[in-house]
Amino acid sequence: MKIINNIKDLKEEIKNLKGTIGLVPTMGALHDGHKSLIDKAAKENDNVVVSIFVNPIQFGANEDLDKYPRTPENDYKLCENAGVKIVFAPTPDVMYSQDKNNLTLICPPYSVVDKLCGKSRPGHFDGVCSVVAKLFNLSKATRAYFGQKDYQQLFIIQKMVKDLNFDIEIVPCPIVRENDNLALSSRNRYLKDSERKIALNISKSLFEAKKLFESGTATKRAIIDNSLKLMEELDVEYIEFVDVNTFEFQDEIDENTLMLIAARTPETNTRLIDNIKL
Ligand code: PAF
Repeated sequence: MKIINNIKDLKEEIKNLKGTIGLVPTMGALHDGHKSLIDKAAKENDNVVVSIFVNPIQFGANEDLDKYPRTPENDYKLCENAGVKIVFAPTPDVMYSQDKNNLTLICPPYSVVDKLCGKSRPGHFDGVCSVVAKLFNLSKATRAYFGQKDYQQLFIIQKMVKDLNFDIEIVPCPIVRENDNLALSSRNRYLKDSERKIALNISKSLFEAKKLFESGTATKRAIIDNSLKLMEELDVEYIEFVDVNTFEFQDEIDENTLMLIAARTPETNTRLIDNIKL
């Protein structure tokens, strides 16, 4: 496995690869969720490239850029064991050698960013799309793998690929959970033990919502009330329902409904997101 941190060497190595390339874009602090993406990429491609880059332009001024977990040695080990060919781990200066306020960005439209995570994180998806587009260009990947935990991100990247005719296949991958159903996230490391228990009420709300929906009697209001009750110790940012195909808000829930939650924990103020298809 090659660990590369500059663009010239990356281009050279990519040129030498034979066959298909599966790209797994990450911000490091890799966990079993990332591993599932890497394993799927390895099954479906001749070569796997993993990028590890905590992308500064997708973080807001008051967000956790500085304290975002960085565990390069563990990440490299995980990649090596999973058969990754190239890890691309650039510094911000390598990715953005020009003035950060003078960059060409990809800005998805309000219809998809002015809601859910995009609403509380202005500019976040501009940063995500811009870095992902750079990674697509640099890696020349055949396929790229994204987790469904960040469903809005996945939807926006799929739209970007379609709208801008990127020659790449986006492969959505299911959420990976701990045994107690907490969705895996690099930010789970911030949680105190006491908060972890409280955080479980996010996935509990979603699983109960699915059961309520399947019972055929519950209204959207009843599902929201049940979730709010379960999550009363959390600071709930949103509980929303969108059509999984169009990402439009839904007044009535149906078999195409994706229910999404964002909430912050009481002590460390950790922002967690999760979702479920009803
Ligand atoms: O999901 C992430 O980890 C990041 O948003 C991504 C896609 C690697 C872009 O920085």
